[in-house]
Amino acid sequence: AKGAAMVTAVAYRLTEQARQIQQTMAEFRLSKEQLLEVKKRMRVEIERGLKKSSHQEATVKMLPTFVRRTPDGTENGDFLALDLGGTNFRVLLVKIRSGKKRSVEMHNKIYAIPIEVMQGTGEELFDHIVHCISDFLDYMGMKSARLPLGFTFSFPCHQTSLDAGILVTWTKGFKATDCEGEDVVELLRDAIKRKEEFELDVVAIVNDTVGTMMTCAYEEPNCEVGLIAGTGSNACYMEETKNIEIVEGSEGRMCVNMEWGAFGDNGCLDDIRTTYDQSVDENSLNEGKQRYEKMCSGMYLGEIVRQILLDLTKRGFLFRGQISEALKTRGIFETKFLSQIESDRLALLQVRAILQQLGLDSTCDDSIIVKEVCGTVSRRAAQICGAGMAAVVDKIRENRGLDHLDITVGVDGTLYKLHPHFSRIFHQTVKDLAPKCDVNFLLSEDGSGKGAALITAVGCRQRELDAQ
Ligand code: GLC
Repeated sequence: AKGAAMVTAVAYRLTEQARQIQQTMAEFRLSKEQLLEVKKRMRVEIERGLKKSSHQEATVKMLPTFVRRTPDGTENGDFLALDLGGTNFRVLLVKIRSGKKRSVEMHNKIYAIPIEVMQGTGEELFDHIVHCISDFLDYMGMKSARLPLGFTFSFPCHQTSLDAGILVTWTKGFKATDCEGEDVVELLRDAIKRKEEFELDVVAIVNDTVGTMMTCAYEEPNCEVGLIAGTGSNACYMEETKNIEIVEGSEGRMCVNMEWGAFGDNGCLDDIRTTYDQSVDENSLNEGKQRYEKMCSGMYLGEIVRQILLDLTKRGFLFRGQISEALKTRGIFETKFLSQIESDRLALLQVRAILQQLGLDSTCDDSIIVKEVCGTVSRRAAQICGAGMAAVVDKIRENRGLDHLDITVGVDGTLYKLHPHFSRIFHQTVKDLAPKCDVNFLLSEDGSGKGAALITAVGCRQRELDAQ
């Protein structure tokens, strides 16, 4: 009888444990009503960003980009492009040919940006960038060419023209001093002058979302939205110029860089943020900022997972209650690991092997829980990202007074491309929350490089026209 009582006690403890774990996970499971609410709130913040009277304090900044049309195939020439702010820093040479057999040829080199440069002084950062350009030009044998350059700089910039962009604030892992509030194009031009080795003509500063939209629009003219679901999360789309009140003129459309990562910074998402989201925020380089991004982008998903695992371990539900050094390490769960752990083809034994690689000793039960935690966190990410996108496509539909909208969204980003479930859940959510829109998703091939070159081509042409 004593044995039976013990078995019952153990069984009770296990079900109680399972119940508590499920209770923790439940905070991340959003109902359709909650997601519709997220969509609605995004719409409110979009309007605040667009209106002159509320733009100043708006969290979703809706920044004008001075890109007024998508490419039409007549773009032509050789361009340099820089891509800063994604997973890698790259320098590219892009050769665009117009005409019947239009083509885009690219050469590129990836450079590392050491963390001490990312978080050092602005001068060091820009000197490093120019050093990489110099190396690339040597490599291509093009030091004397004075090429037009498009700078993909994937951070919020307040633009007053195609070639002027004041950095509003750093996001993601960057924190170089003396850059916020400065015109990044000037910082680049100054660094090129300091080097005294070559000349370049900086024509455009481009957000990665805009580059992605333009690259996809080159193949598919219906593409008027760009999305990045990668290290960071952000979107852009073609808005009616008359609605962008801080831009003069009311003709036609202009692409707006939404900077939707900052959605929620005024507290409007607090009811769905969990204590784990708060811990991630508190441990970040930019506390209180980019709250939506911290719930749905690659740089932070692993951190949310880690915070949950830490808590479950403290409560004795995981890893035999032992908090290892690995589990205390910020950033151990990169997108690629989450993607592996969540892959359907993976046996639990392989999940354990991955955890082992990360320095986490797990039992079979542990690995089941870890996999479920990862799945729950990435599902919420895909859903709230989908709710944001639903707000955008419905806004475009209403702008055009349509009952039904057909539109293409150009997409890039490691989370979208590598994760086994993110894109599917994201698509499904957009479909559920914006039923009056038929949204087609187009993967962009190298949007940041190609798109910057396309925008530069358009910018050069515009300059020639203006000079006439
Ligand atoms: C961050 C940046 C934004 C960029 C996004 C994706 O949210 O602020 O400019 O588009 O990351 O890289």
